[in-house]
Amino acid sequence: MKLLEDRILQDARVLPGGVLMVGSFLNQQIDPALLREMGREVARLFADCGVNKILTVEASGIALACAAAMELGVPMVFAKKHKTSNVDGSVYSTPVHSFTHGNDYDMVVSREYLRSDDRVLLVDDFLASGNALFGLIRLVEQAGATLCGASCAIEKRFQGGGDQLRAMGVRVESLAIVERMTDTELFFG
Ligand code: G4P
Repeated sequence: MKLLEDRILQDARVLPGGVLMVGSFLNQQIDPALLREMGREVARLFADCGVNKILTVEASGIALACAAAMELGVPMVFAKKHKTSNVDGSVYSTPVHSFTHGNDYDMVVSREYLRSDDRVLLVDDFLASGNALFGLIRLVEQAGATLCGASCAIEKRFQGGGDQLRAMGVRVESLAIVERMTDTELFFG
């Protein structure tokens, strides 16, 4: 999506270690005009899939997930991150390791909001090693729901998560794909 790529080139900051800072327009301060266009693009890409629910994980995925949900006219559900195991049987839950933050958490969603007849689209802001999406897929599987695909704003392809998901047969549509980053520059695919 050229609009997003241009904005990344203009306003993102590249940090050593392959980290991209997009807090000025995407994951802390949000540009609503850009977000609306991104939501439209996600909706356009998955328009023919019969999606009836969008699933993301708190916190930064919520904005794009909500924008896409508004365009598709479907509810958006976000999984929560719990630091300790949740023993309440009313939730689906799975452990996730975050490479970027170096921590572990349980990803949890109420059984009430994810059902076996749901057709689910996953949405997130970043796709790096894919652990967040793998966790969300496990929640979809626990619910017996159907996975329609996954869409994220920025895929850092060199971290491999997107291609691993594609190899598993998951349809992954990223709005901007970063093929390579140096300590000061990035290159789109
Ligand atoms: P993965 O889910 O693809 O495996 O990625 P990883 O574990 O490495 O990333 C975990 C968190 O780090 C995610 O946010 C993800 O959005 C974020 N992240 C990954 N790469 C970048 C990057 O280059 N720049 C920025 N700004 N964030 C990145 P999270 O832990 O779920 O945090 P949040 O959604 O609560 O903000």
